Amino acid sequence: MKFELKTTDPGSKARAGKITTDHGEILTPIFMPVGTAGTVKGVHQRELKDDIHAQIILGNTYHLYLRPGLDIIQKAGGLHGFNGWDKPLLTDSGGYQVFSLKEMRKITEEGAKFSSHIDGSKHMFSPEYVMDIQRIIGADIIMAFDECTPYPCDYGYAENSMHMTHRWLKRCIKRFDETEPIYDHTQSLFPIVQGSVYPDLRKQSAEFIAEQNREGNAIGGLSVGEPAEDMYAMLEVVNDILPKEKPRYLMGVGTPENILEGIALGTDMFDCVMPTRNARNGMLFTTEGIINIRNKKWEDDFSPIDPNLDCYSSKFYTKAYLKHLIKCKEMLGSQIASVHNLAFYIWLVEQAREHILAGDFATWKPKAIKQFMTRL
Ligand code: GUN
Repeated sequence: MKFELKTTDPGSKARAGKITTDHGEILTPIFMPVGTAGTVKGVHQRELKDDIHAQIILGNTYHLYLRPGLDIIQKAGGLHGFNGWDKPLLTDSGGYQVFSLKEMRKITEEGAKFSSHIDGSKHMFSPEYVMDIQRIIGADIIMAFDECTPYPCDYGYAENSMHMTHRWLKRCIKRFDETEPIYDHTQSLFPIVQGSVYPDLRKQSAEFIAEQNREGNAIGGLSVGEPAEDMYAMLEVVNDILPKEKPRYLMGVGTPENILEGIALGTDMFDCVMPTRNARNGMLFTTEGIINIRNKKWEDDFSPIDPNLDCYSSKFYTKAYLKHLIKCKEMLGSQIASVHNLAFYIWLVEQAREHILAGDFATWKPKAIKQFMTRL
């Protein structure tokens, strides 16, 4: 994997760059649609490419390990072979998902013991095993096994947890460096900064993560319920320390506003379930603002969902028709809304990139936030 930094915006820390993987290029800043179980829910591969213009999608270690399981994934030639996506893939390590199981898991120095949310069967993820699993899944970018601290989280817990995440990272790196990719492409391991909302812990964690000198770095443990201002403050501390010449990935974030603020603070990669999850509930992000398509006011609005996007679903279907589909819980409604919201998110980061390249990102950002966060 290679990262080239093209431009930094004169009025902010926003950057435009390019990541090159063996499965192709990713222009940054980028939003990565989430495909937890090997599918971006309700979205065809063809739509991901032709309508959404996705450059990289996510998979999840926890879900893929439980179903379909490692044997099937390996027989298929990894996740690329299994779902047919021939562009870059990133897998999260399962840390976040296992820790969300709450009562169904136990964390020790060795790793995390957990019960499957599907059948209650017992499993153990160690940092070494999570590297082996991600070798089998075969994503271009794989994530270290970490603990995503909850919010609120007291200082003592956050400090101990951060140190454990750092010790786990050392074990991940050792295993990763001792093993080879299974398939015909290279893989990169990204470590994850933790430290909750405590600036001194974030600083310590970012310094430790930077010292590991991997090809890219991630920031975790944010957007877990803390005020947005705390998230931005942590991002500022961390991005000042993480090396400029490597991509910075903010995990699990967020709203269009969070993404634009994250970009302004020097972050390059984002992922979030928000565009797809909210789509299924009728919340649409558009170039004109946010729509709750369930509202009565859309029932006879026969204008396209969003004529400004280069996306078949956004242009072809009307708001009134989509309202009807969502109200009737027709599955096509969820599909159209998901494709549309993802097309908007990708368009948003493309716009951000263009403004960074043009040198006016800092003046464009507040206008964009106002427009895209307005509730219509
Ligand atoms: N997704 C969102 N936040 C996190 C995090 O802190 N760690 C991991 N592994 N995944 C995440």
